[in-house]
Parts: sequence; C-alpha cells; structure tokens
Amino acid sequence: MKMNKKTKPNYRLEQLDDIDVSEDPVRPELDLKFRTSYGRKIYGLKDEEGEVVAIICFAFTHDVPTTVQELEDFSKDAKLQAVHRAGVQGDIAIAYTVWARKRGGGRAIVNEVYKMVKQSSNLNRLVTLSPLTNMARNFHLKNGAKELQVNETSQNFEYDIELEQWEKIKERMKKVKDKLWFAKG
Ligand SMILES: CC(C)(COP(=O)(O)OP(=O)(O)OC[C@H]1O[C@@H](n2cnc3c(N)ncnc32)[C@H](O)[C@@H]1OP(=O)(O)O)[C@@H](O)C(=O)NCCC(=O)NCCS
Repeated sequence: MKMNKKTKPNYRLEQLDDIDVSEDPVRPELDLKFRTSYGRKIYGLKDEEGEVVAIICFAFTHDVPTTVQELEDFSKDAKLQAVHRAGVQGDIAIAYTVWARKRGGGRAIVNEVYKMVKQSSNLNRLVTLSPLTNMARNFHLKNGAKELQVNETSQNFEYDIELEQWEKIKERMKKVKDKLWFAKG
C-alpha cells in the first residue's frame, strides 16, 4: 500500500519587521514605516525550509475602511484611543495587501491568519481592503470570504468568525456552569 504521510507542507506564521515593499504587487507605495506604525503588522508564512512563501499586512481598526487614507486614519485613531484609555487597539483586523511568493502560499497564509484571528481574544472581525481586481475578488471568494461592499476604488471582503464567537461564549458559559456546580457541591 502506498503511504501518503505528508500531503500538506508545515507552515508557520511569523511577524516580520523588515520586508522589501517594492515586492508588494498591490500597494508598493506604502513604505515600511507605514506598515509598522500605530500597531500595524506584517506577517510572513514560512515553510519547513524557513522560506517566506507569502506576505500579508494588517492594520487594526474599529471601522471598515474603504480607502488607504481611511485605513491610515482609523488605525491611527484606534491606536491612540487604546493608549489613552488603556483599551483594545482595534478589534477589526484589516488585511490591506497579500501576495504569494510560491503558488498556494496566498491561500495558505489566509488560512493561518484566519486561525490566528479566531484564537485571539481581542480581535472580532477579519476584513480585507482589496483592490478592485478580479484576482483579489476570485481569491477571497474562493477562500470562503463574503463580499462586504464594493467601493469606488476598493472592495471589502469578510472572513466570518461569528461562529467562533459563539463557540467562545459557549465555552465561557460552560466554565461558569462548572464553577457553580463546584460551589454547590
Ligand atoms: C492572489 C494571490 C495572493 C493568490 O495566491 P495563491 O493562493 O498562492 O495562488 P493561486 O495561484 O493558487 O490562486 C488562488 C486563487 O486566486 C485567484 N487568482 C489567482 N490568479 C488570478 C488571476 N490572474 N486572475 C484571476 N484570479 C486569480 C483564483 O481564484 C485562484 O484560484 P484557482 O487557481 O483555483 O482559479 C497571488 O496570485 C498573488 O500574489 N497575486 C498578486 C497580489 C494580489 O492581487 N493579491 C490579492 C489582493 S490583496
């Protein structure tokens, strides 16, 4: 019998501080400072050899941006509000660019990011700020995202994590129930 031990490569998501922004096919005009200021983050997906196969950039906001200017303003506001009020920096993760260095890397990084957002306790939504291209549209819809809105110069897709929120609430309720049970007994 033919053994098929490993079908999927072993990927891991890593935060990156330094990338060549001119490599970004979507928004090469955004410099490294933009991508790392006000809580914004760059993630790379590394394969077993440590090679970065895809890159995705995030900003964290409380509202869905429809332009890069809004992305900049909303994430700046969210960061400053969090500093002043010791609160959460922005509960919506906005993926404003993603590109693959190896075929399949794009899909794989979105899968890993989805898991990361699901597991996070302070992020509630995963939304994109995508260019008005068929490539972006096909890519996100094929990966299971829903169209949120089509704007004048961009489109937003959303990867639904609502179910996981319910699962979290269910977990919390279960813990409360267990506590009550112990208190009673
Ligand atoms: C989009 C991208 C990230 C996909 O990466 P990937 O998952 O590693 O690549 P794949 O080539 O397997 O494509 C996955 C899906 O994306 C879509 N896609 C890829 N290239 C496309 C193109 N030239 N035109 C239309 N759709 C395309 C398709 O739905 C494709 O699925 P299919 O191959 O089953 O038809 C990659 O093509 C890329 O880096 N593109 C340039 C940057 C970009 O446009 N990013 C997306 C918007 S932010």
